Amino acid sequence: MAIRKVGVLGCGLMGSGIAEVAAKSGFDVVVREVDQGLLDKGMGRLRGSLDKAVEKGKLAAADRDAALARLQGTTQIADLAGCDLVIEAIVENVAEKKKVYAAVGEVAKPEAILASNTSSLTLTQMAMATRRPDRFVGLHFFNPVPVMKLVEVVRTLVADDGVVAEATEFCRRLGKEPVQCKDNSGFIVNRLLVPYMLDAIRGYEEGIGSLEDIDKAMQLGCGYPMGPFTLLDFVGLDTTYYIAEIMFEEYREKRFAPPPLLKQMVQAGRLGRKSGRGFYDYAKK
Ligand code: CAA
Ligand code: NAD
Repeated sequence: MAIRKVGVLGCGLMGSGIAEVAAKSGFDVVVREVDQGLLDKGMGRLRGSLDKAVEKGKLAAADRDAALARLQGTTQIADLAGCDLVIEAIVENVAEKKKVYAAVGEVAKPEAILASNTSSLTLTQMAMATRRPDRFVGLHFFNPVPVMKLVEVVRTLVADDGVVAEATEFCRRLGKEPVQCKDNSGFIVNRLLVPYMLDAIRGYEEGIGSLEDIDKAMQLGCGYPMGPFTLLDFVGLDTTYYIAEIMFEEYREKRFAPPPLLKQMVQAGRLGRKSGRGFYDYAKK
């Protein structure tokens, strides 16, 4: 089956990036949010990113306009009916994801491929909640999607080889570099990155340095593009907290446990850049 039309569930940080890259790569895209306000916000982020690329001379204005013409925002799951591939990028919560797969299963073509952009949930449990477990894969994109080259392609125990090959080829058509991963929580990158970010919070709680100095140390001492607190704010503290809870539950190892400060920041609504304040205050920047 040739993939021509792509559905994206969620137009948050990741969904808007995935929709943008797919539309820029020539696919027709339908992106679904839960309400009009969130859809407008996500589509605004997406348009802003395309405009920035034009300003920087990385994208022709005509190509931006063509990408926008291929994009449809919706709040209706029924609008995903004609999609060949549906990529889910909603909140990191297994019950919510299963609910949305059931709803998509009602409207999607029987041959459509379903993919999840989950960071930490294992895919087999979700595949079995759909009516097409053999046509379900993990496609784990990285933030910011227009910039980061990697996609982790996750194969479940029950996936059809042809479907995994088609999904891998789709990533290449987006200009991404796929790597194949086993269905373990966190795949490759988050298995290594999440304990590092959580340990930075624990180190801060222990007083090893200020936020700024820990960030500076990792940037200048290790050549990382961002220090851990800038990265935590960038990923989203709510998303990091959900990921840590899921990985801790899966592995039962302390290094995956969310530190109390992370939990309290989420409870206080300090979610990082997306809410204007996380470890840093973006209203001041
Ligand atoms: N959309 C499009 N382009 C963007 C962008 C965005 N949101 N953000 C930055 N860019 C582009 C800029 O336009 C710029 O392009 P040019 O060099 O061609 O001008 C380039 O990226 C570099 O940007 P800046 O100069 O503004 O800033 P920078 O050098 O600090 O780079 C960054 C920004 C690419 C985000 C870099 O800081 C970085 O790589 N940070 C680490 C990101 C990372 O680790 N992501 C993974 C997070 S974990 C994850 O995603 C998995 C999970 O499940 C949680
Ligand atoms: P986000 O909070 O920015 O966006 C999630 C969006 O999904 C919200 O706008 C929410 O309204 C929407 N949503 C919730 N239920 C929905 C539904 N039933 N249908 C459509 N939309 C729905 O979160 P995010 O950072 O974009 O993360 C989304 C997924 O991508 C999560 O599974 C996360 O683990 C994963 N992920 C995140 C990152 C990151 O750096 N933030 C990186 C890779 C993967």
